[in-house]
Amino acid sequence: MDCNLQFILGLLCLLVVLISNPASGFKSEEFRKCNQAPFCKEARARKPGTSKAHVSEISLKDGSVRAKLLSFSETDEPAGALILLLTVYREGILRIRVKEENEPPSGKRRFEVPDVLVTGLEDRRLWIQRVSTENGVTVFYLAAGHEVVLQHSPFQIHVRKGSEQLVSFNSKGLFHFEQLRQKREGENWEETFRSHTDSRPHGPQSVSFDVSFHKAEHVYGIPEHATRLALKPTRGTEEYSEPYRLFNLDVFEYLEESPFGLYGSIPFMLSHNQDRTTGFFWLNAAEMLIDVLAPGWDKEVDNEEKTAASSIDTQWITESGPLDAFLFVGPTPKDVVKQYTSVTGTTTIPQYFATAYHQCRWNYKDEADVKHVDSKFDEFDIPYDVIWLDIEHTDGKKYFTWDPILFPNPEEMQKKIASKGRHMVTIVDPHIKRDDGYWVHKEATEEGYYVKDVQGRDYDGWCWPGSSSYLDMVNPAIRSWWADKFSLSSYKGSTPILYIWNDMNEPSVFNGPEASMPRDNLHYGGVENRDIHNAYGYYFHMASAEGLLRRGDANDRPFVLSRAFFAGTQRVGPVWTGDNTADWDHLRASVPMILTLGLTGIAFTGADVGGFFGNPDSELLTRWYQLGAFYPFFRAHAHLDTKRREPWLFGEPYTSLIRNAIDTRYALLPYYYTLFKEASTTGVPVMRPLWMEFPKDASTYAMDDEFMVGQGLLVRGIYAEGISVESVYLPGDEPWYHFETGAEYAGGHHYKMPVTLESILVFQKSGTIIPRKDRHRRSSTQTEKDPFTLVVALNTAKQAEGELYIDDGKSYDFEKGAFIHRKFIFSKGRLTSSSLHGQDNSRKGFSSSSLVDRIIILGLKPEESIGKHRALVESVNQKIDVERGPTILRRGAALNAVVIRMPNVAIADDWSIQLL
Ligand code: GLC
Repeated sequence: MDCNLQFILGLLCLLVVLISNPASGFKSEEFRKCNQAPFCKEARARKPGTSKAHVSEISLKDGSVRAKLLSFSETDEPAGALILLLTVYREGILRIRVKEENEPPSGKRRFEVPDVLVTGLEDRRLWIQRVSTENGVTVFYLAAGHEVVLQHSPFQIHVRKGSEQLVSFNSKGLFHFEQLRQKREGENWEETFRSHTDSRPHGPQSVSFDVSFHKAEHVYGIPEHATRLALKPTRGTEEYSEPYRLFNLDVFEYLEESPFGLYGSIPFMLSHNQDRTTGFFWLNAAEMLIDVLAPGWDKEVDNEEKTAASSIDTQWITESGPLDAFLFVGPTPKDVVKQYTSVTGTTTIPQYFATAYHQCRWNYKDEADVKHVDSKFDEFDIPYDVIWLDIEHTDGKKYFTWDPILFPNPEEMQKKIASKGRHMVTIVDPHIKRDDGYWVHKEATEEGYYVKDVQGRDYDGWCWPGSSSYLDMVNPAIRSWWADKFSLSSYKGSTPILYIWNDMNEPSVFNGPEASMPRDNLHYGGVENRDIHNAYGYYFHMASAEGLLRRGDANDRPFVLSRAFFAGTQRVGPVWTGDNTADWDHLRASVPMILTLGLTGIAFTGADVGGFFGNPDSELLTRWYQLGAFYPFFRAHAHLDTKRREPWLFGEPYTSLIRNAIDTRYALLPYYYTLFKEASTTGVPVMRPLWMEFPKDASTYAMDDEFMVGQGLLVRGIYAEGISVESVYLPGDEPWYHFETGAEYAGGHHYKMPVTLESILVFQKSGTIIPRKDRHRRSSTQTEKDPFTLVVALNTAKQAEGELYIDDGKSYDFEKGAFIHRKFIFSKGRLTSSSLHGQDNSRKGFSSSSLVDRIIILGLKPEESIGKHRALVESVNQKIDVERGPTILRRGAALNAVVIRMPNVAIADDWSIQLL
């Protein structure tokens, strides 16, 4: 196309985007529905039992079960056999793979997404030694009493324990595998959606099947959607008519309740009932649609039959790509998350500062503005750790540059920020401005590093800078080239305290189909965007994080926030829930969205505090801070067109209330960091649904207005204005303690509690010990040497336990053992601290001079014989006074507790303190 014409068209597109977007909100018609995508429509129309696939020639090959899968459908012509491969990994993991036996005629291969499965997975394989075949079924051992039953005809796979079936694959007979084939004469493979035509050069290649979770009460997972935590059915009910869509898209003003696919995709679902949690993960980065089928979805049944249904059936449909799936047997919620993250990796432990409060907006205008905001935090005595710069800081939206007028001295600006122990983040998006004077564009063009359009030209799409091209991040060599762009010498004006924000990496293309990249665009190795689409953002994120890793002394943990994500993102960095809106419904929706991300492996996540679009009033903003202070990732952010809303702008009492909320987070940072350590080793998320901690309590299964932070805290946000009484459920049969007042509440009850604007509802679970740092500082880095407070919440047996993990908060030295990991146990009136590390810490390169200067004990009644007057610090044989009753501790809070002040035991040492 003539360049000028292309330019004019581009401008027109941008105009359309700009004019249509701000006023109108979410436009459902701009996104493809299931019945507009033939592969989805046909899959949904298939009747149960359609699949006539059967297996034959079952054998054991290299420790896996291998079989031929034949005649998979009545309606499709046979296109050669498929090969089924069943593999078992330690801890109860079954892998199901189906492939074309013969090389497809066009030479196209189904794209197997690399870099998602952890290295070393194959070492955890259990070689299947023996199968028994009888009466048309082949059975082999999985783990811990679980067996896999492969039914030959029709083809079905069941995982069972004893006589109890847990999960089944294709038990509804919806398995369908469109084999890659030659185009028939006269056949037209093109598809058109709105003004865009997809050439579909390889034709139909979709895969679909059903998975049944037996006796499941609910299913969860498959982000990203703004939906409730427990996924509602999408067929057989009135509520949702579309399946849950997994297709990474930049959805303008997304709704707070819809199965619509947002910025990221993780094809991992969990099911839960009182006795069992299971999981299913499909490693495939193409567009995927998942139906949760209501009981009786396939036939007209009366209500009684519906209630009697004993499984949740789901149908999984992709446009293309491989069938490579994993089934996890649990049995507990934590086990399933552990099993999933043992396959895809755990959340990498962030730097300490990154777990503190981040201040962002689109945009801090110039250096003076940054200085002003930074100094106001000090003036108003509000801690913060990171200030962020959005796209306007660049020179014409060319990333790695600074606007010469607005940000003439970026290094000096960062030095000032650094002098207070603070950090800075700049945005780096994947669209590269097509500007011949921009060196990144020049190099990328010369090297041929851009994604190609179907004609093989550098794809040219429209984004913030105008005409842009997109780096082909699927290619490891291009990722490596990109990573070098972050070196301090290449990224001029950057300093070691500068970290990165990757946005628009779905990728967002304003004039592309569904505001993204055409599916027939080509990546490295001739892979179509249709096959890689949902992982593009992951590769971009990965390359940026690699850049920070290589920069400087290479021992600094990267911090790169990403909007798009895929399975495996947790190993790279945090994500946030994108462009939410400043209203109460979005505040509430943030909780299930973050919980779902945690359940599917990504523990470091948050939502824009305050809401991105629109202007929150002072009450909504305050409530958002009070809730956001408990998100794993805590960042305020706002759209360019919104009014300024830094915490001091709303006046009293709001400034103080917001300060208190941020202070609470700072006090709890040692607890959060310990939870991040746990997430990084086990995969268990920081923010958890109640049922993860109380798996037997059925009343928690659909709850998503309250949540747990670790095992110790229960948080219930306030999601409406003017609330003076709020209900909260405190599960279990042990008491809970109000976080602010220490008041005790029996577990296993619903309460109606009075609330004021002062705080949302937070409780500490009895039986836990939570480490805090209560001293007020400007930033988290300044709390390094501060003493600890231990909050001991006694259960009815007058016992409690907790942990604390500390390291340098910055480097990878912890991998060599440079950390402190303590276990605290309170029993029989004695609190002891011992090492979970096993060895002397000081020899391993990390120590801490911090002391414990306060121990707060909740749950000792006045009539209790111990803790009345004194405590004995046993290592030094020193008696100290004990205080009882309401004491003012953190700002303003009067806590009803027993307090041991200044025991002055070292956090790194073993010690014990006996209440007398
Ligand atoms: C996208 C991001 C938003 C950012 C804006 C400008 O909308 O989601 O957070 O502020 O782009 O970069």
